[in-house]
Amino acid sequence: MPRYSYVNGRYVPHAGAAVHIEDRGFQFADGVYEVISFVNGHFADEAGHLDRLERSLHEMRIAQPMPRKALQLVLRAFIRRNRLKNAYVYIQVTRGAAPRDFRFPAGDVRPTLVITHLLRARFDLEARKKLLGKAVTVPDIRWKRRDIKTTGLTAQVLAKQEAVERGAYEAWMVDDKGFVTEGSSTNAWIVDKKGMLVTRPTDHHDILKGVTRNAIQALCKKEGVKLVERAFTPAEAYKAKEAFITAAGTLVMPIVEIDGHKIGDGRLGTLTEKILDLYFAYASDKKRRQERWTPK
Ligand code: PDD
Repeated sequence: MPRYSYVNGRYVPHAGAAVHIEDRGFQFADGVYEVISFVNGHFADEAGHLDRLERSLHEMRIAQPMPRKALQLVLRAFIRRNRLKNAYVYIQVTRGAAPRDFRFPAGDVRPTLVITHLLRARFDLEARKKLLGKAVTVPDIRWKRRDIKTTGLTAQVLAKQEAVERGAYEAWMVDDKGFVTEGSSTNAWIVDKKGMLVTRPTDHHDILKGVTRNAIQALCKKEGVKLVERAFTPAEAYKAKEAFITAAGTLVMPIVEIDGHKIGDGRLGTLTEKILDLYFAYASDKKRRQERWTPK
């Protein structure tokens, strides 16, 4: 089955899919992106991801490459063209290709729109429950607008590589005051000593407002799971009852060890499992009204 990617209005064989060497995404990381899970024949949290894409573009002062309705049609054509049932769909928009100059390009430069899909995704709940991740902490060396989902991911690439080299799945980044911000590509959560679900607030632009995080918050509210938004330190996380990470694709993954400290009994925790079950049902249910993403 040939694999196609979408590049500026054309479906091209993936192996040869390319943008110009002066694309501003390539030269300046002057672009934004989204990853959306396509679960069992439908997009999970599509509205939330498209809301955030539009906001990221707005914050970066990049024009919408096309209206939302048109993008939704392209996404569906992309799925059909690749005959996908389960996938991680990657959308990237940059400010376009123009002679290298830090200033925005003058004139009518069209944004670049690229859609591709990452490795063949599998959404098997029981298999997911067996994935137990480890995390290590690293300093958060990023810029101050982490609410924008830009392709400027150097700090996260270095963080993730350090995690892998230290035998872990994820790096939890720690700010200058000693509090965990988020994972290199995930939001971070703990269940504290009192059994309260804790995750960092999103109102200071210091973390990404995850679409998965958003949906889980709404599910917790509906199911009566107590949740508090506050920052926590690695020391508190070491003593947590449970810990987990969330993102599109990753969904909900338990973290059973942080910096070599075993979390709880080192297994999938009760509340983590409940949230994984709830989110999995939500993401794979076509009919369920999916949460809209609200900016902050
Ligand atoms: N990462 N925090 C960061 C820094 C992220 O890069 C991501 C997503 C998240 C979770 O956001 P969401 O729930 O909307 O996926 C939090 C994507 C999946 C990636 O870069 O591959």
